[in-house]
Amino acid sequence: MTKLAGRAAFVTGGAGGIGFAIAAALADEGMRVTIADVATDRLGDAVSRSGGRFAAQRLDVTDETSWREAIDAAEQALGAISMLVNSAGIGGGAAVGADAPARWKLVQEVNALGPFLGANLLIPRMRELESAAHIVNVASLAGLCATPSMSAYNASKYALVGLTDTLRGELAGSNIGVSLVYPGTVRTDFIANAQNIIADRTNIAPRPSGTENLLAKGMAPEEFARLVVAGVKAGDYHIFTHGGWGARLAAHFDDRMAAYGDESRFEGGQDLTELDRAIGAIMDQSANRA
Ligand SMILES: NC(=O)c1ccc[n+]([C@@H]2O[C@H](COP(=O)([O-])OP(=O)(O)OC[C@H]3O[C@@H](n4cnc5c(N)ncnc54)[C@H](O)[C@@H]3O)[C@@H](O)[C@H]2O)c1
Repeated sequence: MTKLAGRAAFVTGGAGGIGFAIAAALADEGMRVTIADVATDRLGDAVSRSGGRFAAQRLDVTDETSWREAIDAAEQALGAISMLVNSAGIGGGAAVGADAPARWKLVQEVNALGPFLGANLLIPRMRELESAAHIVNVASLAGLCATPSMSAYNASKYALVGLTDTLRGELAGSNIGVSLVYPGTVRTDFIANAQNIIADRTNIAPRPSGTENLLAKGMAPEEFARLVVAGVKAGDYHIFTHGGWGARLAAHFDDRMAAYGDESRFEGGQDLTELDRAIGAIMDQSANRA
């Protein structure tokens, strides 16, 4: 999406951290920005910190009704939304065998179901726009490369990567562009915020996670947001912002390709043209239903 000025953006998780910084960078480009967050106390502070540049809506990304109310109110206030930034997220966990199912489920609902609900609601509206629209999903390098002790977070971000790769195919050739962002560490209050939200919704009390220092040494959110907005303007689908992961990413993908190996050794070769034809029919049915 090259022309941002004058358009309306809706940024989830905008009460602080990465969401707030992306909202500020979009406002600098001349966008009219709504920040949305479940943390209404921090949302008010964020509007003050923006110097009144942002509108704000309460949003629980896990709740479809909440999405509808927040989007309707944002569109009434600032006009049709051309850009959705899904940045709301939580993390935390323990090794499988010692983790809490309630937290695991909540992490999936916020990080994976949330972006789906937003896109599911906004895509039909964005298709009606005469101009370009864009969806930005903030995943993580943990969405490509799983690290032990973070199964809930890894699984949720892998799901978000899967959702976004699907959108890329479904929206190809439409007026809606997509970007998938893979942050490494960014200096935010992610861990404390996540622990407070988890404590609110489960019986799991906040406790030190051991990763606070890693985030404290991370990239400044403003610098991160600058890279994201530059990527969106350039029409990039994959937006990487952090070095240091090359060898792990290569090992992750090379390992799979090495296991797949020479496909002529398989008895049953699948004809992908048939698969593509069947998928084309589902896409046509979806277009007729929309
Ligand atoms: N900070 C990092 O190092 C880092 C690294 C990789 C990925 N990320 C991702 O970046 C995104 C932003 O994280 P951040 O670092 O800015 O942390 P943050 O805690 O500042 O921002 C996340 C926001 O999401 C909000 N939120 C949580 N649950 C919600 C819900 N149900 N509905 C609406 N809002 C909700 C929180 O209140 C918070 O304001 C997250 O998706 C996170 O997974 C962050």
